[in-house]
Amino acid sequence: MQTLMSPMSSAPEAIQPVQPIQSASSSVIQRAVALPTRAARTHTAVARALLGGVMLQIFFAGLAIFGVSSFLPHAILGPLIILGSLALPIIAWRGRLDAALHHRSWLVFGLMIVQGLLIDGSRLMPLIGAFHPLNAMLLALLVASMARLTPDR
Ligand code: HEM
Repeated sequence: MQTLMSPMSSAPEAIQPVQPIQSASSSVIQRAVALPTRAARTHTAVARALLGGVMLQIFFAGLAIFGVSSFLPHAILGPLIILGSLALPIIAWRGRLDAALHHRSWLVFGLMIVQGLLIDGSRLMPLIGAFHPLNAMLLALLVASMARLTPDR
């Protein structure tokens, strides 16, 4: 015991347990575990495509608001984005991705449904329609948070 301590130190914490030498195969396994799965990469790719679609949709709304076009491009792309967003929770579920990511994916799809319903509601009460752009911003933030690979996938 005495021979493991330096002559200057007699504190018990000076004795460090010997670290096992890592074999080459265990470090390869560790690296493989850290790599994102195919489902995680697909989920990220879909989130990126969806983010692009949401940006385009906001641009189409801008074109219509400033009189460059009608709302037709926005009305055509809208249902495609809403339907496309269903891919996120399906990939998260089938690929057994992280639970938080899974829940956020369902949240995106739920808010997309709300996005369409807000327009229906605006026909009853215009104030409801005012939440449509606000919800779009929330959606953009949520989708952007999923558009990059993170170590928790
Ligand atoms: C995530 C982004 C968005 C999605 C998925 C979306 C989706 C939709 C959908 C499905 C409709 C109904 C189209 C129809 O009449 O059948 C709609 C209408 C509309 N959206 Fe959006 N929207 C988004 C963002 C925005 C933003 C940012 C604005 C405004 C700044 C906006 C303004 C409008 C307006 C004014 C209408 C009614 C158009 C009309 O009366 O024909 N939208 N949107």
